[in-house]
Amino acid sequence: MRKKVTVIGSGNVGATVAQRLVDKSLADVVLVDILEGVPQGKGLDLLEAGPIEGYDARVIGANDYASTANSDVVVMTAGFPRQPGMSRDDLLKANYDVVKSAIAQAAKHSPEAILIIVTNPLDAMSQTALRVSGFPKNRVLGMAGVLDTARYRTFVAEALNVSVQNVQGFVLGGHGDTMVPVPRYTTVAGIPLTELLPKDQLEAIITRTRNGGAEIVSLLKKGSAYYAPSAAVIEMIDAIFHDRRKIMPCAAYLEGEYGINGLFVGVPVKLGANGIEQIVEIKLTSEEQSALAKSAEAVKQLVSVLGV
Ligand code: LAC
Repeated sequence: MRKKVTVIGSGNVGATVAQRLVDKSLADVVLVDILEGVPQGKGLDLLEAGPIEGYDARVIGANDYASTANSDVVVMTAGFPRQPGMSRDDLLKANYDVVKSAIAQAAKHSPEAILIIVTNPLDAMSQTALRVSGFPKNRVLGMAGVLDTARYRTFVAEALNVSVQNVQGFVLGGHGDTMVPVPRYTTVAGIPLTELLPKDQLEAIITRTRNGGAEIVSLLKKGSAYYAPSAAVIEMIDAIFHDRRKIMPCAAYLEGEYGINGLFVGVPVKLGANGIEQIVEIKLTSEEQSALAKSAEAVKQLVSVLGV
């Protein structure tokens, strides 16, 4: 039997997630949006691409959650997008209401699903989803680390003029201006990055990575990135559906790991059939640890405003 994924939000991120899912024949998709006709139209359009692309996956659009029942994964993308000059955190209150109502309904119809939260501010929205769904913490995760790391890997590969596939590493912390790329654990074909790039060039890459989302927003003028965000969601779903136990950075609910308690923060996790199979704790220098603590503090401020 094919897997089933509900994608909430039929905007650029949601529709591109749906497209990538069926293109890779990973799952049948239900695209949900409050806009009448839009999810149905995009769903039908994607379904009709099947004979050409060669996929049999079914795609439907809906305005309610009845047809989402028993989904294996629910991807939450709906919410107000970031506008130029607006921080992810400005979106807090508006998107809290959206996430609360959508996740409550999705969780009711798919009580065994794994939730992947994309709506910003992502760490606080993941915490909202955990509370509203009542799901165990291994089944609620936020997509940010894979995206932030992809940006970081892109810039490193560009600086060294090597394949992006050679660049491995991860970004820790919240999906915000305080995120923490970790050059000490970044390698290029096994060679530590710190041996390949001078400090000032590394710093420039880290700054550009932190501002990666804003860079796209300022270019697009209206709306935010969606090709790389949707690709990141697919990598996570692929690891879950194939039980790959692949280590990648995700927003996870920490209970003491990295000295952080009761908060979603981006850390390396092992992703498999049960969602988060393990939170991978790595040794940090005191400088890295304090950057992570600072990033966690930024997330904490948001969740305390929301009371979640
Ligand atoms: C980004 C926005 C979506 O990083 O947060 O592109």
